[in-house]
Amino acid sequence: MSEGTTARRPSQAELEEMTPEQLATLAAELDDVVVVRNANKWPVPGTKAERRAERSVAMWFLLATLSGLAFLGVFIFWPWSHYIPPSDPHHWLYSLFTPIIGVTFGLAVFALGIGLVAYVKKFFPDEVAVQQRHDGPSGELERRTILAQLAAAGNDTGIARRGLIKGTVGLAGAVFGLGAGVAVLGGLLRNPFKDGPESPLWHTPWRPEHPGEKVYLRRDVGLSAEEIMKEKPELRVRPEDLDAAAMETVFPFRLTDMEDAEKLAHGIRASDAAVMLIRFRPGERVTQRKGRENYHYGDYYAYSKVCTHLGCPTSLFEAQTNRILCPCHQSQFLATEYAKPIFGPATRALPQLPISVDEEGYFIATGDFDEAVGPGFWERPSS
Ligand code: FES
Repeated sequence: MSEGTTARRPSQAELEEMTPEQLATLAAELDDVVVVRNANKWPVPGTKAERRAERSVAMWFLLATLSGLAFLGVFIFWPWSHYIPPSDPHHWLYSLFTPIIGVTFGLAVFALGIGLVAYVKKFFPDEVAVQQRHDGPSGELERRTILAQLAAAGNDTGIARRGLIKGTVGLAGAVFGLGAGVAVLGGLLRNPFKDGPESPLWHTPWRPEHPGEKVYLRRDVGLSAEEIMKEKPELRVRPEDLDAAAMETVFPFRLTDMEDAEKLAHGIRASDAAVMLIRFRPGERVTQRKGRENYHYGDYYAYSKVCTHLGCPTSLFEAQTNRILCPCHQSQFLATEYAKPIFGPATRALPQLPISVDEEGYFIATGDFDEAVGPGFWERPSS
């Protein structure tokens, strides 16, 4: 840009005296730009046609504003955080949340984009310019003048006197920015430790809700909560259900869950509930962690399925080597040594669930995990 220009370069004093319009013209000349044609779209300001064009652009920004507000309202006030089963007459409220949030956000982006395109089409002058191409960086002079040129381009569209468009685009931009901020940061505004020791990060659905409550190990039989309540299949796992060197994914289950679809669904959907129940081959040498010597039942051991690296499900159990593999970043845990990490980025062992078998022969959890499940977090002790 700075090479090969034929324009006369003004002195510093001349530069200080130049008006923004003169600076903009100079910018074009310094850039070796020849403006072949520059026709103002609205040479007579304030005509009916111009006002109509202005209103049509403002309408898009207004639509973006309203959609952004609707998105914010739905995100904040819609009752989406509690599962409502299909059998409940209010299930439609729960199931509509995702489509509505998508439509309102999409419409806000769409209307904002169309408004900007419409503004450029309707108000930017019809300009044809030719510029010679040069190599190398821009000099100080060019950098200063280009800003004036951009300002002049804005002035050419008459933005200074288009209060309606300025107001609506500002409003739409503000609401859209707020909506995007809420979408990204909204979930972080909740304090996960507000309940102190009862905060959910310290507990999982395996914790008995009252002393003596039995929490069984159940399998996922591929039925919805409603279908399970209707067909009443046996969900609870017994020791004889697993062959030696087998692994099964299990979830917490209380007999009272059979009366409540939400509880039934929660046991499977809760992000910290999935557990791998592993049966070792008879005689396998297993190293117990101190204080957890009675966490297993014979050859059966239960470990959290949530990877301690970044929380992926560690679904792969290799029976030959007794390794548990996380497919996300290839962390490996040795099941015969309290699931300690032996390869990959994970640095903590998978938490172990204490289990036993009740008098009817079903597996039960004898308590919750004794440490937080999943990836580490700031407040979690390092041990
Ligand atoms: S989440 Fe498991 S290794 Fe990264």
